[in-house]
Amino acid sequence: MSVKRVLQYGEKSLREPSKEVHKVSKKIQDLVQDLLDTMYAKNGVGMAAPQIGVNYRVFVIDVSKNDEPLNPIVFINPKIIKKSGAVVAQEGCISFPEAYTDVKRYDYVMVKALDRHGRPFVLEAKDGCLLARAIQHENDHLDGILFIDHCVNRFETDDILAKHNLPPVDADKLISEPEIDKELENKKND
Ligand code: NI
Repeated sequence: MSVKRVLQYGEKSLREPSKEVHKVSKKIQDLVQDLLDTMYAKNGVGMAAPQIGVNYRVFVIDVSKNDEPLNPIVFINPKIIKKSGAVVAQEGCISFPEAYTDVKRYDYVMVKALDRHGRPFVLEAKDGCLLARAIQHENDHLDGILFIDHCVNRFETDDILAKHNLPPVDADKLISEPEIDKELENKKND
């Protein structure tokens, strides 16, 4: 398969919801391979189908380090079935080249999905690890949600986006996360 052009923040498809996959066909397997090829070419940790302009509920993640063997994980029709805790960490996205900002995430998630052969699996990611955050980040892409919608500080994020010639935060899209805010407040007081 091949390395595809990655849509940049501001392009419409990134904000569109993606469709369920009804059959893990050759077309979907080719899409998975394009996502992997594009993610590795861009040195990314994850890549979701809408980022290459295909609005299907598919994403790939590889959190292996440079000195480790590749460890791609393919998620088709993913659903986050449990989530808890809270963590703030810097995040970026291949659709926002070089722009990083602090975002709020759950620190634990359990996700179920189909693998590239259409077999169901369940995966847990704990302690705010890179995998836990990547699952939330990529899963959001399938609903047209972007990492900046979870930013800790909208104005700081606007400055960062401007420095990289990207459009500002879309205020209508900012997500209110009282559950996460409360957890973060509790952590601070511990
Ligand atoms: Ni992204």
